[in-house]
Amino acid sequence: MTAPAKPRIAILISGRGSNMQALVEAARAPDYPVEIALVIANRPDAPGLAWAKAQGLSVLGFDHKHYESREHFEGQLQNVLELSRVDIVALAGFMRLMTASFVARWYGRMINIHPSLLPVFKGLKTHERALEAGVRIAGCTVHFVSAEMDAGPIIGQAAVPVLASDTAATLAARVLAAEHVLYPQMLALVATGKVRVDGDKIQWQDAGITEINQSTMLVSP
Ligand code: GRF
Repeated sequence: MTAPAKPRIAILISGRGSNMQALVEAARAPDYPVEIALVIANRPDAPGLAWAKAQGLSVLGFDHKHYESREHFEGQLQNVLELSRVDIVALAGFMRLMTASFVARWYGRMINIHPSLLPVFKGLKTHERALEAGVRIAGCTVHFVSAEMDAGPIIGQAAVPVLASDTAATLAARVLAAEHVLYPQMLALVATGKVRVDGDKIQWQDAGITEINQSTMLVSP
């Protein structure tokens, strides 16, 4: 008997791609519930794209600067996603805002990872701002993408301590290590339908206590 098809994932990156790498590595396990359909970068020279290509994955780099508008770029992106029969889009350091209509089309099927405990520190320079604010706990968030930046329903978070000796770089490295643990687990919950959007809230479907607990984790340095 053939195993049921797994949801097909497109991972969108703009740069280094270490979160993409964590997802790709998780998907190598036979029981991981997604298939990586392709990796797309809006910067053809993104280092992560070269890594993905070297793994034998389907990759596509298309430069948003070659499109006359956001709508044209997204139209091309949508074509690629449809041709590749993509079910879920995972943004992983994708540094491009999307239009409300693209987001609406993928609402509930597009997720993102952000390096702060949302709703605090939306946007850029999260670690600098965390240190400036003097928070003692930092972390990362995986959320469904909504029209407002970094504001969609939260699927899961991981927390790390902020140490007295931290610089933005040391804190970023600690949070990034937590991102690499959190993102594959949260993608699996979305792919198996254990977590869904319900309007602007999250609904847990047939999720055991383990799954619900693992959406909030503490990762030690
Ligand atoms: C990560 O910190 C992610 O949370 C943020 O952008 C960074 C991307 O890093 N959205 P990488 O490209 O995954 O290494």
